[in-house]
Amino acid sequence: MKAILCQHFGGPDDLVLADVPEPVAGSGEVVVEVAAAGLNFFDTLIIAGKYQTKPPFPFSPGGEFAGTVVGIGPDVSEFKPGDRVMGYTNFNAARQRTTVSAKQIVKIAGRLDFDRAAALTITYGTAYHALKHRARLKSGETLAVLGASGGVGLATVEIGRIMGARVIACASTDDKLAFARAHGADEVINYDRENLRDAFKRVAGAHGVDVVFDPVGGPYSEPAVRSLAWEGRHLVVGFAAGEIPKLPLNLVLLKNCAVMGVFWGAWVRNAPADYKAALAELARWCAEGKLSCHIQQIYPLADTPKAIKALADRKVMGKLVVHPGE
Ligand SMILES: NC(=O)c1ccc[n+]([C@@H]2O[C@H](COP(=O)([O-])OP(=O)(O)OC[C@H]3O[C@@H](n4cnc5c(N)ncnc54)[C@H](OP(=O)(O)O)[C@@H]3O)[C@@H](O)[C@H]2O)c1
Repeated sequence: MKAILCQHFGGPDDLVLADVPEPVAGSGEVVVEVAAAGLNFFDTLIIAGKYQTKPPFPFSPGGEFAGTVVGIGPDVSEFKPGDRVMGYTNFNAARQRTTVSAKQIVKIAGRLDFDRAAALTITYGTAYHALKHRARLKSGETLAVLGASGGVGLATVEIGRIMGARVIACASTDDKLAFARAHGADEVINYDRENLRDAFKRVAGAHGVDVVFDPVGGPYSEPAVRSLAWEGRHLVVGFAAGEIPKLPLNLVLLKNCAVMGVFWGAWVRNAPADYKAALAELARWCAEGKLSCHIQQIYPLADTPKAIKALADRKVMGKLVVHPGE
């Protein structure tokens, strides 16, 4: 079967399309025929050896997927061949068939298509965990989303709206902001053009921002913390800008606020039943049209490097998906 392989750490151009042996399901695992693999910003990092997970070589990028169960290992009773499933693998989804623990997948709700199902698990799961379990966002609160047109950013705009927040989308271009507004943002800020602190004063007023969702880091985090409301929450999600910012802790004291880590991967390992319930709810919302799970482009397997390059080059709005069967 075909797979895109990372054989040594490097850039997207170092990935190769190759034949690999068929996978075999071990105890508690299933083999899935991957219909669609969702890509994430962390795929740019995992192939470069800059991510917290360093899989043994050779491995495939692609951390989330949807497809059909084609093999069952010992001790699996929840699934059978033919089941349509979705979930996460961390890596190895950009290949025609992959093994995955039965703990990491759920059956796909009736009407949801494979492409959106493939792009939902990590992306919307992170936004859901961040807003529901970490920030405990309340209806009527103001939620600012940095990188609001990206994968987790757009998911947070949409889930924030469902939870009743007033959503301020922040992004680097007017096209990205128009895209975020079309997906439910109430206000927009172009942080490439306008000083973020001034913009938050203008848009959030004297009260400030109740919750900031921050998957970007770099120069944006400190002005965002400075713009928090009394007892606000700053969600540390990622550092797509490359730089991990440092904060003066007096800011946290003065606002009685909280700077909170969000680590979706550890949460799903620690609370597997909650993860499955959250994923089933997200899939239902998506099937009902409450979440867009917008796919910007679908790539054939051989073009996975092009897709990962687009993520690294800040060119993606919503999600990118790979079809391993093409
Ligand atoms: N903590 C967790 O559990 C968790 C889970 C999932 C993802 N993450 C992290 O969240 C971040 C976003 O992931 P994603 O998959 O949503 O990525 P994405 O779709 O590529 O979105 C990232 C956004 O970051 C902004 N950005 C700013 N500087 C950038 C740069 N130099 N290169 C690329 N993008 C830049 C871009 O928006 P603008 O151009 O508008 O600034 C872009 O839309 C990543 O750091 C990822 O590792 C964390």
